[in-house]
Amino acid sequence: MTTKSAARIVTTTDTPSNEHERLATLLQISGALSSTLNAKAAIQEVLETLARRHSVGQSLVVLIDEEGKQLQVEAAHGLSRPSHHIQYTLGDGVIGKVVESGKAVVVPRVSKEPTLALPAPSRDHGDESSFLCVPIGFDRRVVGALGVSLKYKPDRNFDRSKAFFSVAASMIGQALKVQRLVAAQHRRLVNENAHLRQELKERYDFAGIVGNSGPMQRVYEQVAQVARTSTTVLLRGESGTGKELIAHAIHYNSARAKRPFVKVSCGALPDTLIESELFGYEKGAFTGADSRKKGRFELAEGGTLFLDEIGDVPLSTQVKLLRVLQEREFERLGGHETVRADVRLIAATNKDLERAIEQGKFREDLFYRLNVFPIFIPPLRERKPDVLLLADHFLQRFSAEHGRDIRRLSTPAIDMLTSYHWPGNARELQNVLERAVLVCDGHVIHAHHLSPTLQTAEASGTVMSISLDDAVSAYEKDLLQDALKSARGNRAKAARLLRTTERIVNYKVRKLGIDWKRFKT
Ligand SMILES: Nc1ncnc2c1ncn2[C@@H]1O[C@H](COP(=O)(O)OP(=O)(O)OP(=O)(O)O)[C@@H](O)[C@H]1O
Ligand SMILES: [Mg+2]
Repeated sequence: MTTKSAARIVTTTDTPSNEHERLATLLQISGALSSTLNAKAAIQEVLETLARRHSVGQSLVVLIDEEGKQLQVEAAHGLSRPSHHIQYTLGDGVIGKVVESGKAVVVPRVSKEPTLALPAPSRDHGDESSFLCVPIGFDRRVVGALGVSLKYKPDRNFDRSKAFFSVAASMIGQALKVQRLVAAQHRRLVNENAHLRQELKERYDFAGIVGNSGPMQRVYEQVAQVARTSTTVLLRGESGTGKELIAHAIHYNSARAKRPFVKVSCGALPDTLIESELFGYEKGAFTGADSRKKGRFELAEGGTLFLDEIGDVPLSTQVKLLRVLQEREFERLGGHETVRADVRLIAATNKDLERAIEQGKFREDLFYRLNVFPIFIPPLRERKPDVLLLADHFLQRFSAEHGRDIRRLSTPAIDMLTSYHWPGNARELQNVLERAVLVCDGHVIHAHHLSPTLQTAEASGTVMSISLDDAVSAYEKDLLQDALKSARGNRAKAARLLRTTERIVNYKVRKLGIDWKRFKT
C-alpha cells in the first residue's frame, strides 16, 4: 500500500542529519556575515559554503543598482562567465521577476524553463538541474536575490529547500543593512568633518594663507590646536613653504595676539651678535655698549618670539637658549640681574635637525625642548590643488600692486604651473607670478610669460620627469612602507629593519605623510 504521504516519507531527502547539516551551514553563514563589514567578501564566502556543504552547482547574489533599474552581480560561484559581465534588468527573466515581485521562484527542471537567464546553466553539461531564486531584502524592501542551481532530484522537497535558502537570503539582507548603515554613518561623519574643517578655517584667522588641500587642512588643525596654548612650536618644512606665515597665524590666533610678535633670523646674524640680539646687554658689556639695550626676548615680553632658521644658531648660544626654555629666565650680556621671560617660542627650520644632532652641530636636549609640538608644512609639489589657488592669489595681488588689469591665466600656462615640481615652493611660485605680471602686455598670462625654468621643462618634454628630491623621497617612502609592513606598523621595529633610529623613522613618516597606523594588524 503506497499512499501519497507514505511515498513522501520514503522519498523525501529531509532526514534529521540533513536538517542538522543545514543548521550547521546557517551557523557558518551567520559567522561569515558577521565577521566583517565587507559585505561583498562575506557574501562570496556564503556562496562558497553553500557550494561546499550543499552541492550547490552555481550560485549568485544580485543586488539592485543605485538607480534601481539594473541588477548587478555582487558575488557568484561556479559561473562560466566572469560575473561582472552579467547584467539583469528588473522584471526580466526569473531573477529579475523575483526581485521585482519579492517572491521566491522554484524551477524544478531547468531544461523545461527556457526563460531562465542564468549564464551557462548546468544543462550545458547534460545533467538536469533545478534552480531556486529567493529575494534578499531588509526593512520590507527587496534589494536583490540569491539564486542557486542544484542537481535535479525528482524527490527533492522544494519547500524545505526554499525555506532554507530564504533563511540564508535574509541573513545576507541583514548583513547588507548593517553595511549600508555603517556606510551612511561614515558618509555623515566625513561630511561633518569637512564642515567642521570649514568652520575651523572661518573661526580662525588664517589671513593671507592660501591653500585648501588635505595636507594644509591638517596644518590648520594643528595651528588651531596649539594657538590657544603657550606651548613651544617647531615649524619644519622646505624653504618657501610658508613657515613664517604659519608662525604669524599661531601668534595672531593666540591669547598673546595683542602683544608683540618678534622675529629673529638666526641665520642672518653673525655668531658674535646673536646673543646680544637675543638677550640684550648692559651698559659697558663690551666696547661700544654705551647704554643698556633690550634683547628680543625682552621685546617680545608677553608675546611671541619667532626664532627663524633655528638650525643656524651656534652651539654656545644653544646652551643659553636651552636655559631660557627650561627656566624661563636669562641674564643680559655683562649683567647679573636675572630677567624673567614670559614669551611663547616658535622656532622654524628647513634643516634636517636630526642629522645636525648626529653631526654634533645641534644639541639634542635643545631639540627635545623645541620639538614639543612640531608642525610639518608639506612642500608645494605634495599639495598640487594649492598651486592654482596660490597662482590666482598672487596674480590678483601683483596685478593690483603693479596697477595692471590681468584677469586670468591661459590654459597652457595653467598646465605649465601644475606640472612643475616647485622646488622653491610658494616663494618660487610667487616670484614666477610677479615676473609674469610685469612682462604681461595684455589681460591674460600666457605660457611665454612664465619664467624660463618652467619653459625648459615644458619645451624639452621633461615635465613628467621627476626631480632628484622627488625620486629620493619616493624611494624612501617605498622603503619605509615596506619596513612598516614587515614590522606591522611597529616603528621601532621598522627602524631596526632599516638600521636607523626610531626618531628618524618617525620624522620621515611624518615628512613623507605615511600613514603608519594602516600597517598595524
Ligand atoms: N600658503 C600660502 N599662502 C600665501 N602665501 C604663501 C603661502 N605659503 C607661502 N607664501 C608666500 O611665500 C613666501 C615664502 O613664505 P615664508 O617666508 O613663510 O616661507 P618659509 O617657509 O619661511 O621659507 P624659508 O625656510 O625659506 O624661510 C612668502 O612671501 C609668503 O607670503
Ligand atoms: Mg622663513
